[in-house]
Amino acid sequence: MTRRHGFRHGDWESAALRLDEIICAHSGEDAFEEALKLLVAKLAHERDGARAAFLARQRDDRAVCEVNRLLRAAGERWRGILEPGATTCLSGPELVRCASVLNRVRLLADDLVGLDAIFEFMVTRAAKGQKGQYFTPRHVIAEVVAMVKPTPGERVVDPACGSGGFLRHALLQEPRCSVWGFDQDPRALRVARVMLAASDQETARVMRVDSLRRPERRRRPKAAAVLEDLMRTQEPSFRGFDVVLTNPPFAGDVGSDYADAYELARGHRVERDVLFLERCVELLKPHGRLAIVLPHNKVGAEQWAYLRSWLLERVAVVAVLGLGRNTFRPHTSQKACVVIGSKRPKPTRHFRDEEILFFISERDGKDHRGRLAYAANGTAIDHDLVQATPLVRRRFELVQGGA
Ligand SMILES: C[S@@+](CC[C@H](N)C(=O)[O-])C[C@H]1O[C@@H](n2cnc3c(N)ncnc32)[C@H](O)[C@@H]1O
Repeated sequence: MTRRHGFRHGDWESAALRLDEIICAHSGEDAFEEALKLLVAKLAHERDGARAAFLARQRDDRAVCEVNRLLRAAGERWRGILEPGATTCLSGPELVRCASVLNRVRLLADDLVGLDAIFEFMVTRAAKGQKGQYFTPRHVIAEVVAMVKPTPGERVVDPACGSGGFLRHALLQEPRCSVWGFDQDPRALRVARVMLAASDQETARVMRVDSLRRPERRRRPKAAAVLEDLMRTQEPSFRGFDVVLTNPPFAGDVGSDYADAYELARGHRVERDVLFLERCVELLKPHGRLAIVLPHNKVGAEQWAYLRSWLLERVAVVAVLGLGRNTFRPHTSQKACVVIGSKRPKPTRHFRDEEILFFISERDGKDHRGRLAYAANGTAIDHDLVQATPLVRRRFELVQGGA
């Protein structure tokens, strides 16, 4: 058997960097927007099953027409991912140069892992170094979704959905669940829509909002819409989600913006992940299931003991997965964990005897440079979270069976 060439994060990053350079150097157009249109055109080309390479042997003037034709086709096939009538602003020579970069990669291959890596580069770059935008590796997402296991008809949300990885995998594993994504970054949302469309999934339920903004008790007349408002415009009977899956931003001091609105922020200096934790619990229905990626210190450091007590009072934590240090490389080597549990119908202080599964991952599916590591058969990513899945499922059955 031919050993598969390990996916190198750097390969996709250098393709993304090259696109960015070509677009910025020659056109002065919005590099994110033009790169996104180009990627959509390439996706449409691959979806058509075209044998020839993208824009191969096209004269410069024909390249512009061909990209615009592909954009029209993509707009019809995948509604909502492009502005109506979107056309490329790049010139023929620029398109041909970009195509020579894109022809080295197949975007629809390998569960979109390469497309995801290019988008991650673009979103992080467009955010101009703002920290905490790193996407969760897809093998981690796939396993966490399998642990929480959405069922038909359940409402699933990611309130910081980024490129929509959790949404896409929830739908891949249970196409009959109803999936909702929210993010405040319009670029991340556009990426999420393209990723969902590329796997032929519904894109309309991905919306822009500051998910940390909470409903006010006494509503001011011109107050901005909050997540619950957006949900009720779609589903008037909305009362909460059955499943929350998320990797919220870790960094970013929240200043005084939310200090009064969040219990966990009162009297403490906190970052956004703490607020997201409180908000996720609030968004869940009683007995709803939660999986949230958090910085490692939240489960170990003395300073966060008050947060752990707060959480255990409200959530029956079934498992904590310690992710390996390579998980978010090459972007960061920060250690993170996934906290998984089920919301209690009412807070309780009687949780001391409850068992929690602690699983420390020793094979995180990447090497120290952040390249995906494949198992000996060359096809599957080499990670050990898969061993935790049946254990977490069993813990859920015990907790929810006893509910
Ligand atoms: C670490 S990324 C995670 C992305 C995604 N969960 C994934 O794993 O691919 C965090 C996302 O949270 C979004 N975000 C940050 N603050 C937010 C807020 N107040 N409301 C909604 N989204 C927010 C960022 O734009 C970013 O896309």
